[in-house]
Amino acid sequence: MSEEIGTVISGQESPSPSKLEFVVNKGLVHRGQFVEMDSSDGTLVALVVDVYKTNRYFERAESVKEFEASGRKMFEQFPTSEWEYLVAQSRLLGVYTNEGLIKRLTFPPSPGTRVRPAVALTMEKFLGFEKDGLQLGRVEHPEMPVELNMTRLLKKHLAILAMSGAGKSVASKVILEELLDRGKEKGRIAIVVMDPHGEYTSFAEPAAGKKSFKDYSSKTMVVKARDIRIGVPKISVAMIASIIPGLSATQRRELERILSRLKNEMRQGLGPFDLATLRNSISQDEEIKDATKGVLVSWIYSLEDLRLFSKTDSPSINDVVKQGKLTVVDLSEIVDMRKKQIIVSYFSSKLFNERRQARIPPFLLVIEEAHQFCPERTREEAAISKKIIETIAREGRKFGASLCLISQRPINLSTTALSQCNTHLILRVTNPYDLKHIGESSEGIDYKSQEMITSLKVGEALIVGEAVNQPVFFKVRKNKSAESKHEISLEEAALKFEEGKEKELKETEEFL
Ligand SMILES: Nc1ncnc2c1ncn2[C@@H]1O[C@H](COP(=O)(O)OP(=O)(O)OP(=O)(O)O)[C@@H](O)[C@H]1O
Ligand SMILES: [Mg+2]
Repeated sequence: MSEEIGTVISGQESPSPSKLEFVVNKGLVHRGQFVEMDSSDGTLVALVVDVYKTNRYFERAESVKEFEASGRKMFEQFPTSEWEYLVAQSRLLGVYTNEGLIKRLTFPPSPGTRVRPAVALTMEKFLGFEKDGLQLGRVEHPEMPVELNMTRLLKKHLAILAMSGAGKSVASKVILEELLDRGKEKGRIAIVVMDPHGEYTSFAEPAAGKKSFKDYSSKTMVVKARDIRIGVPKISVAMIASIIPGLSATQRRELERILSRLKNEMRQGLGPFDLATLRNSISQDEEIKDATKGVLVSWIYSLEDLRLFSKTDSPSINDVVKQGKLTVVDLSEIVDMRKKQIIVSYFSSKLFNERRQARIPPFLLVIEEAHQFCPERTREEAAISKKIIETIAREGRKFGASLCLISQRPINLSTTALSQCNTHLILRVTNPYDLKHIGESSEGIDYKSQEMITSLKVGEALIVGEAVNQPVFFKVRKNKSAESKHEISLEEAALKFEEGKEKELKETEEFL
């Protein structure tokens, strides 16, 4: 049993079954620390949510001012330091019974109860950590690894939310590394990442003898956006309708008719068709009214301009989704938002439908910048991928289709999708609107926790929801998959640009 560090005091309306204060008798107590104490039911567990100092001598402003105004100093005249106390405000989390059960408290501990630092062994069970689970980082007090059960973390979807630069991508890469490191006997899922900034391509880089980072290149496949082709015969009218905003019922019906005719002809031996064939068939069709024809043809032209469609799928989903393997869809070269959305929509629908028919293994689909692909409020044409993401969020867990949505603007992220994410990993957030939104959409985040979220440092996180029994603050570990590069400063970027310019100038002069 660890050493006692404090004693429960009688405060305003505390101790109660939900909160207590204790005075620290020995050593230091930190915000975010877990403590424990004995009770007749078992071990009570509490979380220190704030610490403050008090001193009777300095309580009354007028006395302090009057005394010190005369040139005397309080601490010289009185034993003030002996009257300084450190008080820890704590939230009671529950009781860990002697039978190993976790119960809510319905009755408060008594003032005078002795408080000890919580021991890791109790806390692991209390928080629901799992030996051999996914190791995401460490809790500081008591010092222990955060090990989470894969099903609890991912099955009912995960959202990673924080302001820019707080460590979202690092945290999601930690999860991917843990998944890729899993042995076959533990059950491995396939992973697909929608990567708008090309941040995950480092997984495919061979470590080439560098000991500092781990080689995942044999388990990673990068799909460059420019190499992606969507087979026209495979796309549904629903998907076309989501790409073409404002398709009228007549236009849709005609398109459906011609598509199904082409699909029939394909089966009869004419082979797969592309957009040009579809366009020609529309142009040559004699039943469609001219006005409808004109609209459809011009839409097909605009789709052809995207250079995304062809006769067959490439790569095919079954080639890219493999158990224990990672596929990174690198969207960084695309500027056109619509094109990015079509790709995300296409991959998401394919993954979901194939999984539903058990033709591919269970998977985790990671969507970076999720607010861009599944926005809350938006015009129809800016939401091509929204519907399918919401569908996976709602129904995916039944089929082993898990989502990890990452966003720096949770307020702009679809409430439907976010509310289906049963675990939230939250890193630093300071924007009050985002904070309020997170407080409302995550269960178990009270006012004090919100306050703590604003003071988190980069890489520090709070995890709440399905994956853990209680909200836990912890430090996310560093990535193994690449050497940690520090972010380039503005000065460095400016110098680099200038050097390049000077070199260019010199070369031109030499040439002349
Ligand atoms: N757990 C961590 N340990 C150490 N350093 C970290 C950690 N998390 C983040 N960092 C540092 O912070 C930087 C930014 O992290 P990251 O790219 O994950 O932020 P982000 O939240 O994804 O930002 P953005 O919203 O811009 O995508 C990293 O390059 C790294 O240097
Ligand atoms: Mg990021």
